[in-house]
Amino acid sequence: MGEDYITSVLKETRVFYPLKNFSANSLIKNMEEYKALYKYSIENPESFWAEKASELEWFKKWDTVLRNDQGFFKWFEGGYLNVCHNCLDKNIRKNKDKLALIWEPESGKSKTYTYEQLLKEVCKFANVLKNKGIKKGDVVQIYLPMIPELPISMLACARIGAIHSVVFAGFSSDALKDRIQDSGAKLLVTADGSFRNKKIFPLKDNADKAIKECPAIKSVIIIKRAKNKVIIEKGRDYWYSDLIKESAISNFCQPESMHAEDSLFILYTSGTTGKPKGVLHTQAGYLLFAQQTFKYIFDIKNEDIFFCTADIGWITGHSYIVYGPFSNGATVLMYEGSPTFPKPDRFWKIIDKYKATVFYTAPTAIRALAKEGNSWPNKCRLSSLRLLGTVGEPINPEAWLWYYEIIGKKRCPIVDTWWQTETGGILISPLPGATPLKPGSATIPFFGIEAEVLKDDGSKAQANEGGYLVIKKPWPGMLRTIWNNPEKYKHTYFEKFGMYLTGDSAKVDEDNYFWIMGRTDDVIKVAGHRIGSAEVESSLVSHKAVAEAAIVPYPHDIKGQAIYAFVVLKNGNKKSDSLKEELKQHVSRQVGPIAKPDKIQFADDLPKTRSGKIMRRILRAIAEGTKEYGNITTLAEPNVVEVLEKGKIN
Ligand code: PRX
Repeated sequence: MGEDYITSVLKETRVFYPLKNFSANSLIKNMEEYKALYKYSIENPESFWAEKASELEWFKKWDTVLRNDQGFFKWFEGGYLNVCHNCLDKNIRKNKDKLALIWEPESGKSKTYTYEQLLKEVCKFANVLKNKGIKKGDVVQIYLPMIPELPISMLACARIGAIHSVVFAGFSSDALKDRIQDSGAKLLVTADGSFRNKKIFPLKDNADKAIKECPAIKSVIIIKRAKNKVIIEKGRDYWYSDLIKESAISNFCQPESMHAEDSLFILYTSGTTGKPKGVLHTQAGYLLFAQQTFKYIFDIKNEDIFFCTADIGWITGHSYIVYGPFSNGATVLMYEGSPTFPKPDRFWKIIDKYKATVFYTAPTAIRALAKEGNSWPNKCRLSSLRLLGTVGEPINPEAWLWYYEIIGKKRCPIVDTWWQTETGGILISPLPGATPLKPGSATIPFFGIEAEVLKDDGSKAQANEGGYLVIKKPWPGMLRTIWNNPEKYKHTYFEKFGMYLTGDSAKVDEDNYFWIMGRTDDVIKVAGHRIGSAEVESSLVSHKAVAEAAIVPYPHDIKGQAIYAFVVLKNGNKKSDSLKEELKQHVSRQVGPIAKPDKIQFADDLPKTRSGKIMRRILRAIAEGTKEYGNITTLAEPNVVEVLEKGKIN
């Protein structure tokens, strides 16, 4: 690690209090204010959210705030609004020339959009979509790199009532195909390519492969980004630049009046079993929750430049690059490229270049940049920063302290924000002007959020006792269902305790602070990305040499967790390093580079119960090196543990 970076597992017990001048200028200035509003929000959730909802612009006000329709929650029924109108038109009336979006590509040739300019681009694209036959309720798949046309496409969909489904541009053609087949999209928006470390990633070629098996896709709109050669299929594929130029395309598009519970977007995420599931978010509740969490947790000011390093292909980008910032009329900064291109100071240079005031990133990025040493940030001023944030995985106290001292110069509070694709927005986080911080803890629940840690039998865990993190009452930003699979929604999230089950384990300390410990299911967080064990395993097994595979996480210095794969080969295949490499590439191609196992151990057998179930906790104990296997007497073949331990990859 860097010069001043402590590698030991540090137990940081210090508490960091908000600085007086920070608190004085913030929305919630102390814990008393937080506690009073929190109490009100929990005791009167419907009044609380109704008051907040009046900050949005409605075409027609709602009839009921909340209704439980046999386990499916409905917010603001009877109300009509338009999400894009709330993000753009509303702000234009206040200040049309305010910067909405600053885009920094890897090359540094930036581009900016005022709110007025952004509305014009969104309207033009909305009209293009309409001309291609897209109507309210149709699904549009978006497979784009971090270019302005990505938020523009999303807002264009929202404007006409189409449901967008963004697929992270780092995903493979197979992953794209699975998502299109499930969403039923009619139109795909993609680019000729994307850049990372100056290399071109062939998005359109991937898209071509995917749509061969997606007959529902009738049109493909391609953004020119990389200027590389692509195949154009006549009557199906169109260049965005040509469509936009057509004389009939007007600069204005009337926003569609959308019912509060109409679908806004589907975003696929990994679960315990099978293929990724389509998490569905709807119009009003999602927007309200993104808007309110952004406002309070980032304590947003009119002059802020908010820099979020997430990719819009994940929920963080949806809520805190697009919907949260724009619904607050904020200026958002998006970057397309690697954090270390051309040097490991790229983020710090971007902060200085645009005088970014709030910086929101993942612990993995912090650990990776800390490892590069302090000289990189120390060469930059970083004086514009006033607030820092993290998301996506637990942050270790060492990384927290480095972030606080070296990047924030002990001036900037850190909001460690806990949430999920399903939650729509942040549920547990400090409020920066009020909450004393403990490094490694996401601290306390947001307004309206009743979080608790339960034991297996449903009783409340004691202080500092680990258990299942649950959310007891519905909140406006929660997922409404799983696309095409309402049964799975009920089963995954509500069956165990009859309240929202997060899939995380956590503990609550004596000060009622939440400490997130990790997933309780077969989801692995690699560098903050959510990977389902089942997806990687089925990819490994699809290789001709593989008979069986099981993957587990193991602790990794930078990525937090990495993937350890145990692979049983089919008879006649040689266990070789080149085959390991081939298997890694195979997963990378099929799922995406983020899902590639770091370690592969060939095995003759896996630990199984007599009924044939693989006992992952044993594999995990081997991969983690803890040797805490638990009870192994139920194994069909107890010797297997010792054999696997001997062959362990260090
Ligand atoms: O395990 C938790 C972890 O990320 C999971 C959700 O992943 P995803 O749906 O991809 O959304 C990530 C961005 C919101 C959670 O179940 N997680 C997220 N934030 C934190 C976290 N773990 C610890 N601390 C956090 N701040």
